Amino acid sequence: MSETQGKPIKCLAAVAYKAAEPLTVEEIIVEPPEAHEVRIKITHTAVCHTDAYTLSGVDPEGAFPCVLGHEGSGIVESVGEGVSSVKVGDHVIALYTAECGVCKFCKSGKTNLCGSVRETQGKGVMPDGTSRFKNLKGESLLHFMGCSTFSQYTVVADVSVVAINKTAPLQSVCLLGCGVTTGYGAAIKTANVQKNDTVAVFGAGTVGLSVVQGAQARGASKIIMVDVNSKKETYSRQFGATDFINPMTDLKPGETIVSKLVEMTDGGLDHTFDCTGNVKVMRDALECCHKGWGQSIIIGVAAAGQEISTRPFQLVTGRVWKGSAFGGVKGRSEMGGLIESYQKGDLKVDQFITNKRPFTEINAAFEDLHHGDCLRTVLDLEK
Ligand SMILES: NC(=O)c1ccc[n+]([C@@H]2O[C@H](COP(=O)([O-])OP(=O)(O)OC[C@H]3O[C@@H](n4cnc5c(N)ncnc54)[C@H](O)[C@@H]3O)[C@@H](O)[C@H]2O)c1
Ligand SMILES: [Zn+2]
Ligand SMILES: [Zn+2]
Repeated sequence: MSETQGKPIKCLAAVAYKAAEPLTVEEIIVEPPEAHEVRIKITHTAVCHTDAYTLSGVDPEGAFPCVLGHEGSGIVESVGEGVSSVKVGDHVIALYTAECGVCKFCKSGKTNLCGSVRETQGKGVMPDGTSRFKNLKGESLLHFMGCSTFSQYTVVADVSVVAINKTAPLQSVCLLGCGVTTGYGAAIKTANVQKNDTVAVFGAGTVGLSVVQGAQARGASKIIMVDVNSKKETYSRQFGATDFINPMTDLKPGETIVSKLVEMTDGGLDHTFDCTGNVKVMRDALECCHKGWGQSIIIGVAAAGQEISTRPFQLVTGRVWKGSAFGGVKGRSEMGGLIESYQKGDLKVDQFITNKRPFTEINAAFEDLHHGDCLRTVLDLEK
């Protein structure tokens, strides 16, 4: 049992008070976990585009003041009543896609979406409708994506956390909380890429490069990365891309990215992935799929109010449009397998960490995101 069990903890957090303003690094109070809740000492967190998206104020569901962050790892400090899945001292990853195992979604065997905490998670509160965070003025702060990893301590629902092998380095595996799992899972689970299939990936960020790793693991014959930033070619090839195209510079007059990809693959691709969030790219990704069977997976998060379009004929002639959240991965039952792949050297994780900073430099980590050659910045919350 820890000394702090059952007591509020005062610790550092980065609070988002207002949209489009820097985070305030300050001391907050984190209440003890209620029944079926877990308090985690967060050791490491990365900054993902979804945090920046919500902070920018364009996310219609974004509410302030809140504690952002959803790509984090740490150690269980204490658990509330009735928690049996994790115990004090366990090393854990927070999960924004919960897995309760008993709801209609979990029992369907068809999806990794879980309905158990969906509604309250979307509102930024714990399942009982209240928050475990307040600032030193006593004002309540909202949770984010069921995780809130931008705090030295956080409280999550017991369905939103998974214990992992203690020998896995927490400073690396925090990335399995979102980006790496999302891309890798989209390739091996959602698309189920098979040996010798052809694949095109739009967007060479952490998500797109993880799709590449998944496609390579499955033995895809061609993995074409498409990115408007030529600096991404080196990364793309390191992660397993066989080709790289920058549509801004590599197309001949009269050529489009769709016609170029169709020509390179004798009629179109077996699988394509949007990892940009741009709805025009989503259309191209669908339309360069092979007639009769090609499928396109949408992973990117589009700006609020955006819609996708194509001619219905594209679908009538056998192309398939699908989406993927958290790579279709069930966080509690499947994270162990990903950690094992990482520890065996089959899944690249460390290679995404291009920047490391102490937690207090979190605002600079948001700046890093806008620099073309940054994949992930990992923040150390103990510094
Ligand atoms: N569905 C999910 O569960 C899930 C989870 C995590 C992230 N995401 C989303 O996935 C997307 C990718 O995330 P990331 O962290 O890899 O982002 P990132 O910004 O690091 O990478 C995006 C890449 O796309 C490239 N790009 C931008 N516009 C392009 C265009 N028109 N054509 C080709 N390339 C273009 C950029 O140069 C960049 O390299 C984001 O939209 C993010 O919000 C979705
Ligand atoms: Zn994310
Ligand atoms: Zn469920």
